[in-house]
Amino acid sequence: MQIADLDFCVPADLKSLVEIEKACFTVPWEEDLIAADLDGRGNSVYLKASFKDIIVGYGVLGQSDGLAHLMNIAVLPEYRRHGVALQIMAAFDVLADEWLCRRMYLEVRASNTGARAFYTALGFVYSSRIKGYYVDGEDALMLVARIPLKL
Ligand SMILES: CC(C)(COP(=O)(O)OP(=O)(O)OC[C@H]1O[C@@H](n2cnc3c(N)ncnc32)[C@H](O)[C@@H]1OP(=O)(O)O)[C@@H](O)C(=O)NCCC(=O)NCCS
Repeated sequence: MQIADLDFCVPADLKSLVEIEKACFTVPWEEDLIAADLDGRGNSVYLKASFKDIIVGYGVLGQSDGLAHLMNIAVLPEYRRHGVALQIMAAFDVLADEWLCRRMYLEVRASNTGARAFYTALGFVYSSRIKGYYVDGEDALMLVARIPLKL
């Protein structure tokens, strides 16, 4: 595992995050949405992971009703399987604990076997299926884990 530099995202990171979105998702988050969050107009926390000042991955954590919500996590394909996402999740685990959240939940595409394996290793288990959750009509699986995660 390579140790990444973790930090909160700032507005100047917008282009890098948009590139990561395009490289990682068939339906990327829209630039305007990310820009608004980075400008402090959202309630979520954006964390970036970098190697030598290159942002290689990022994650987004929110909270509602005492539950932490993993809203996004993505790592550039060429930097995967080096523990980058794990390091972001370790930071989110600390944050969720600070927020006094006892559980974390997320939505994942039913077809996303790689991400599902990643989440299962962290202790996430199936909670429910949300029909047609994504804009292209695919179902989401809602997964939930206890805090602390299995890191
Ligand atoms: C899911 C994702 C964020 C994982 O990032 P990563 O930095 O490669 O993950 P890590 O290296 O920290 O993985 C930690 C462990 O999780 C498991 N894991 C991660 N990716 C996996 C995969 N594709 N298949 C099986 N297991 C996987 C492994 O146990 C891995 O440990 P190992 O490499 O020692 O075997 C990355 O694959 C990604 O960006 N995917 C595209 C975007 C996406 O689908 N995001 C999730 C949206 S819900």
